[in-house]
Amino acid sequence: RKGSFDHFMLKEIFEQPESIINTMRGRVNFQNKTVKLGGLSNYISAIRRSRRIVMIACGTSYHSCLATRDLFEELTDIPISVEIASYFLDRRPPLFRDDTCIFVSQSGETMDTIFALKYCIERGAMCVGVVNGVGSAISRQTLCGVHINAGPEIGVASTKAYTSQYITLVMIALSLSEDRLSKQTRRNEIIDGLAKISAQLEEVLKLNDKIQAVAETLVDKPKMLILGRGYQYATALEGALKIKEISYILAEGILTGELKHGPLALVDEDIPIIMVATKDKLFDKIINGIGQVTARSGKPIFIASQNGPALIEGSNKKENGVTETAAADYNGAEKSYVKFEVPETVDCLQGLLNIVILQILGYWLAVKKGYNPDHPRNLAKAVTTE
Ligand code: UD1
Ligand code: F6R
Repeated sequence: RKGSFDHFMLKEIFEQPESIINTMRGRVNFQNKTVKLGGLSNYISAIRRSRRIVMIACGTSYHSCLATRDLFEELTDIPISVEIASYFLDRRPPLFRDDTCIFVSQSGETMDTIFALKYCIERGAMCVGVVNGVGSAISRQTLCGVHINAGPEIGVASTKAYTSQYITLVMIALSLSEDRLSKQTRRNEIIDGLAKISAQLEEVLKLNDKIQAVAETLVDKPKMLILGRGYQYATALEGALKIKEISYILAEGILTGELKHGPLALVDEDIPIIMVATKDKLFDKIINGIGQVTARSGKPIFIASQNGPALIEGSNKKENGVTETAAADYNGAEKSYVKFEVPETVDCLQGLLNIVILQILGYWLAVKKGYNPDHPRNLAKAVTTE
């Protein structure tokens, strides 16, 4: 069932151009630029009237909520909070009848998320599911929802479920804003982006060999930092989770805006640093963050836009310790850095492409260290205990 792949994880990573199409099939009309989610159509107007949307999940599923939170805020103008199910239950926060709670889960059987669902049902909130497991507990116990239709995910590390959850949440945000004329241009731009995303993901998969070669250089490193901001903060967290759970390297996802508030102390010439630096409205701040890292002799590996703008400031070349040959000119400086170039899409969809680099990197780190990525130690596919 693994076909030509050595592991389910790699097979599932490579299935993504297809699984995300299955997520959108019969739901996104690319001609008319409309989105219709059968499982939500009777509830959309009620959700629009809610006072707050609370997204609740664990692990990778939580990261898919973080990845799409900005877009929900932008398109719906409804306050959005994102909750880790266990922490939500520890706090037992106030919740009201006019709240909508969205439960995101690949398996639909995660105990923390099920308990959070029970808590929200008891308080009369409208409970919506976003699950892969048809007939699962969360699918059955929610009032309504959307099946992500990613197909069975066998590898313990979640990969194709993440990209399908992400797309499903984008579709929900698009549905919720269908009545907003002022958001029409933005919605059309996103739907056009969705039309191309599968082919672009296919492009990213072509970097497999290069990623494998870079993994070779990182395999003996005990720790690693992954930096991102804005939409790409979720990419940094999810990438770090992938790497730590299967390669056991202590990878930490960090919000670039927080560097100066502590993590910068970790930066030196030895620690591997991966910076998500694809072009978006925060680009100036991204460049600033790169400067902070290179000024401390950090030598980041970049996830950058294909044919994108230069990332290394020419003026910083000397004191950053960039090699002689690299210092020749502004663009030349960048050549001494490892850079994975990914196709450019709409800002809110860019994370769908960027994460694939880190999924593949995690995979190769595990394999090169002799671990089976499909069966990380101490972990189970569905976490059915609290
Ligand atoms: C449904 C069918 C699909 C069919 C399509 C044709 C199922 C599972 N899906 O897909 O096979 O091709 O109609 O129109 O039979 N739900 C929840 N909680 C969740 C997820 C879903 O309550 O977490 C509910 C939905 O509100 C809906 C039902 O389950 O009532 C099916 O959801 P979904 O599969 O997403 O609906 P469709 O895409 O319409
Ligand atoms: C990480 C991973 C876990 C799950 C988490 C929630 O790769 O798979 O972090 O995402 O246990 O599981 P679901 O989505 O089934 O609720």
